[in-house]
Amino acid sequence: MDKKIQKILNRNIFKVIAQAADELGQPAFVIGGFVRDIILNRPSTDIDIMTVGNGIMLAEKVGEKLGLKQKVTVFKNFGTAMLRYRNLDIEFVGARRESYQRNSRKPIVEDGTLEDDQKRRDFTINAMAIQLNGQNYGDFIDPFNGIEDLRLGIIRTPLDPDITFSDDPLRMMRAIRFATQLGFSINDETLSAIARNRNRMSIVSPERTMEELNKIVLADKPSKGIILMEETGLLPLVFPELQKMKGVDSIKGIAHKDNFYHTLKVLDQLAHKSDNLWLRWSAILHDIAKPATKRFVEGIGWTFYGHNYVGAKMVPGIFKRMKLPLNEKMKFVQKMVELHMRPIALVEEEVTDSAVRRLLFDAGDDIDDLMTLCEADITSKNQEKVRRHLENFQIVRQKLKEIDEKDAIRNFQPPVSGEEIMETFGIPPGREIGIIKNAIKDAILDGLISNNHEEAYRLMLDKAAEIGLYPVNRQAT
Ligand code: CTP
Repeated sequence: MDKKIQKILNRNIFKVIAQAADELGQPAFVIGGFVRDIILNRPSTDIDIMTVGNGIMLAEKVGEKLGLKQKVTVFKNFGTAMLRYRNLDIEFVGARRESYQRNSRKPIVEDGTLEDDQKRRDFTINAMAIQLNGQNYGDFIDPFNGIEDLRLGIIRTPLDPDITFSDDPLRMMRAIRFATQLGFSINDETLSAIARNRNRMSIVSPERTMEELNKIVLADKPSKGIILMEETGLLPLVFPELQKMKGVDSIKGIAHKDNFYHTLKVLDQLAHKSDNLWLRWSAILHDIAKPATKRFVEGIGWTFYGHNYVGAKMVPGIFKRMKLPLNEKMKFVQKMVELHMRPIALVEEEVTDSAVRRLLFDAGDDIDDLMTLCEADITSKNQEKVRRHLENFQIVRQKLKEIDEKDAIRNFQPPVSGEEIMETFGIPPGREIGIIKNAIKDAILDGLISNNHEEAYRLMLDKAAEIGLYPVNRQAT
């Protein structure tokens, strides 16, 4: 460990900070996540510097020494300052003794000592500090034995967890997030304090909560965090729709699968294949409407008819409440949820060219993501069935490729435009245009005509004649 710290401390930036701190006569420390990450060998470019004294003055002095005076950003209200140096974001803050107002996350800030500052931090592994002053340059200050928790893989609060969490309830989500990201466990006392204090999440803004949830979703094994949220009772508060998926109903001895655990397995399987946050959200939401559409049908068993359509409709409400983006990212998730049954339906029957063309038409450029989601959606315990499905998906992928190259369906542009139809028949905008355009599109997707202007034009004339429309110049003769 000493070697790792030494290597870091040889970096020029820390020497400059040390010099500035000495000149101001202020003790200064590297603290928090950066120290944790050095020891874990995780790359990090966010550095927190804590000083017993004025953080803003220290930042300005460092900025001056680095020749970057203009680039120091000061947050007067918080008593903090930031500067960017090369690829590093460095934040300066004065040591604090903090007490929080009961109903808000806004702290009442008071100056404090190093010890005050360390004990008000969230976890022992985030409270380790390295001193930067003169003789003490490189001293490792770890009053809560964070280094041991790091070695054992344990998330634990420095103080009584009831105090740490009631100071800042977001830390309950952070505990679960770190456990998930780092593959650590949460110690029993800390875990039961999360359960006890869960209702304090109500004062945390959805934006902050989502930041943590998204980090859980982006971890290598996101199910771990979601299961911890379920076990501690955070899940129904943060994400009630997902909580509702848990459990199994049984009628006349027929049970359906537990959609909560199925969803988590799909999410974990997808996490092996893709880092795309929104594709991972699609995995979380693909069956979200199963509880709402669940019916027991005599002679058939449990059904979830239309859960993909209902699920797609639920997405905007969930995204809005969770303060997730309501732009094309949400539309992508909706599309994935709506289409997630299509590839599997396709391989269960014969993989016809026209079915593949229609899938390509509906999915467009998102077809590869959709296939990846559907492959992750196979969670059967029957290995033979899994193998067969994956093999069939390979056939679909191959066919998709062939048809995409041949027919250019992916970004389908109608070979005959609405304007051309209006001009040809001398008609104003109206439903006839839609009828003709649809007939052309269907004929192309069904393979009755090729995707080119000549064949589409001929079909346009035939279709128009059926509904009593003739080209203007022919009518004139
Ligand atoms: N911290 C805290 N309580 C919080 C947030 C942060 O005590 N609710 C402290 C911790 O000491 C943490 C440091 O502030 O290490 C920096 O916080 P942040 O940048 O949010 O997290 P990191 O620990 O650096 O981890 P990551 O970058 O993965 O978020």
